[in-house]
Amino acid sequence: MLDKPLHLPCGAVLKNRIAKAAMSDDLGDGCGSPTDAQQRLYGLWADGGTALSLVGEVQIGPWAPENYGNLVLNPLREPGRFRALSDAATANGTHFWAQLGHAGALAAPVAGPAKAPSALDVSGIHAIEMTSEEVEALPAAYAKAALNANSAGFTGVEIHAAHGFLLNQFLSPLFNRRADRWGGSPERRAVLLLEIIAAVRAAVGSGFPVAVKINATDQLAGGIEEPEALDLVAMLDETAIDLIDISGGAYFPGAAAASDGTRAGPYFLDFARAARERTGKPLMTAGGFKKKAEAEEAVSSGAVDMVGLARALALDPGLPDKWLSESGEEAVFPRFSSTPSGGVTAWYTQRLHEWGSNGTVEQERSVEDALAQVERRKAANAVLWQKQFQTEL
Ligand SMILES: Cc1cc2nc3c(=O)[nH]c(=O)nc-3n(C[C@H](O)[C@H](O)[C@H](O)COP(=O)(O)O)c2cc1C
Repeated sequence: MLDKPLHLPCGAVLKNRIAKAAMSDDLGDGCGSPTDAQQRLYGLWADGGTALSLVGEVQIGPWAPENYGNLVLNPLREPGRFRALSDAATANGTHFWAQLGHAGALAAPVAGPAKAPSALDVSGIHAIEMTSEEVEALPAAYAKAALNANSAGFTGVEIHAAHGFLLNQFLSPLFNRRADRWGGSPERRAVLLLEIIAAVRAAVGSGFPVAVKINATDQLAGGIEEPEALDLVAMLDETAIDLIDISGGAYFPGAAAASDGTRAGPYFLDFARAARERTGKPLMTAGGFKKKAEAEEAVSSGAVDMVGLARALALDPGLPDKWLSESGEEAVFPRFSSTPSGGVTAWYTQRLHEWGSNGTVEQERSVEDALAQVERRKAANAVLWQKQFQTEL
């Protein structure tokens, strides 16, 4: 099954059932534009046989980045660099989608406090409530970013409504305590996401892939649990999206993040099976896939249509072709002697940097060393970001 093409409702075809799941690679230039290293990395993934490469956390604007190494779609400062990236990433008929991001309360600091559905002051996170004018402006901002993604050479977009970032905050009863039309019941907390989907679809037209990434569970007490997430799936079924990408967890301090755990997967297949009962949309899930047999079973059992791989493809960008060619080769996963919060994700981020720079990889790197490098880069890029976007912030 893994080598069968997938036909999306918009008419686009993914050449097989393996996707490179969204990863924030922190390889942008600190000013929102792609680098040569990023171009090399996405070229490796395209050469490796994946049907779809999703760039994580491509910001709809510079106001609320997940990190300062994110790309920015509006303003689109260097269209030529985006074109060079998309040329490399779309080799071999690979689809190349931008995950449209806005970090909300989890934004890396820019000018002033972060903005979120409701005010928040917890575990070092300080955010103020968005005004209704600011919320009202979001669908158009996502739509403009999607249009720019199209003109920059991306072949689709994924609206990021998972992992604790802005749209997940709006969906969550824990973070959205608004009394206006964007808060209250689960249906009202979903209104903003539905408005954004409609605006994005209207902007890009009927033939351009639009996916949504949601949480099956926030894995946070008081957050979204599976029954509510299944109701959201039913609401998404009524929209003009092409794919529902199922994940879970959040990047709030102390919460479980899908990229940071070491437990055995796949994580969200039971939810996907239940989601099938609520929607006819194509389903994808990433989370915990390590072996070909797991991916094959997930697709051939009908649980999902598409399997997303993040860490496995950071370890070996050529893995899809190996799985599709029956070579029997599998990715070799590292064992960590310690796993401080964020450390596993940082280790994989460094691995992406190694592929981007010269391809030599340091299997022995400690998570502590990776965390230190990520922090160093963040501090350096923060300065560049502030300077680049001073008029927008
Ligand atoms: C370095 C790294 C960065 C990630 N960045 C993103 C991101 O920007 N957006 C997103 O939706 N998920 C992100 N993830 C999560 C993955 O998409 C995926 O859900 C998670 O890693 C579990 O899949 P895996 O077991 O195949 O790694 C990231 C994961 C890693 C390892």
